Amino acid sequence: MSDVQARSSSADPLPDTLSEHHEVVSAIEPAVAGNLRLLVPIDKAWQPTDYLPSLETEDWRDEVERVRTAAETIPDDLLVVLVGDMVTEEALPSYSMALNALVRDEEGDSPAPWARWLRGWTAEENRHGDLLNAYLRLTGRVHMRAVERTVHGLVAKGFNPQTQADPYSLLVYTAFQERATRLSHANVGRFAARHGDSNLARICGVIAGDEARHEAFYTRMMSEVLDRDPAGGILAFRSMLRGRIAMPGRFMDDGRDPDLFDHFAIVAQRAGVYTVRDYASIIEHLVTTWRIASRSVTGEAGQAQEELCRHAERYLRLADRTMAALAKQPSRAFSWIRDRKA
Ligand SMILES: [Fe+2]
Ligand SMILES: [Fe+2]
Repeated sequence: MSDVQARSSSADPLPDTLSEHHEVVSAIEPAVAGNLRLLVPIDKAWQPTDYLPSLETEDWRDEVERVRTAAETIPDDLLVVLVGDMVTEEALPSYSMALNALVRDEEGDSPAPWARWLRGWTAEENRHGDLLNAYLRLTGRVHMRAVERTVHGLVAKGFNPQTQADPYSLLVYTAFQERATRLSHANVGRFAARHGDSNLARICGVIAGDEARHEAFYTRMMSEVLDRDPAGGILAFRSMLRGRIAMPGRFMDDGRDPDLFDHFAIVAQRAGVYTVRDYASIIEHLVTTWRIASRSVTGEAGQAQEELCRHAERYLRLADRTMAALAKQPSRAFSWIRDRKA
């Protein structure tokens, strides 16, 4: 039996399980309502303009010059990582569409708490791509048309989180991704500060702050699910990890490099922005936060519980070997930076 067959026969939830899962997700609606405060009220929210040079003042040239001079300190590999992160953020329409499977807003303007969350979340996330896009354009160091083509292609290709239409899996997936993006933005910010671009450091910091609130929301909602249905939640968590988490930008394509995502991911690992160790640390964090080890489950779910508790350690054992193999990979030319290598 192929991997795919094995996965679909053992891991996919059955249709009546799916409807039970949707019932639980509806039942936690009061918790969703109580956590809508994790969205920042629009009057208090930051906007990309707050972190960009003003083009309306008399000294706009000086402001732009300051941004460009600071950006000159950023090495090409960090620039490639930032472009890949930006492309991933810019494919937001695909993620909102995918999350509607969880929220089930048929009309598009439902006043229900889940629907309000998804719209508020989308509105906050929408600023991430906008801000990074504007910053990267201003640096003058990026071939923006190649980047835009990549975004266009990624949105057109769509996005399948490999959650088999299961709302539990979608919650696990999103909690994981919010933490992964928070980590990635925070690391780029840290490296930017080290290189002397305090402007980029602030930009990454404010985006990472949003991701942290979003992560808190999805993580709490999955805790609510686990409190009500520990066995179902644990099985969903395991089925997500068995396929290894599908990265949102993995179908990115610039029309030139058929393995663009893999090459971007290698640069991100080598730069220390997002590594196999980070992957393991996120899993470990979720296993602890969701108190997987102490949930009272038996049978198949009990077996899944054991697997989950060992998962991070398994990846950590491979980490050194993975990092050594990555270090040997050749640098690649990226169309995003006019075929300079990273
Ligand atoms: Fe984001
Ligand atoms: Fe996010």
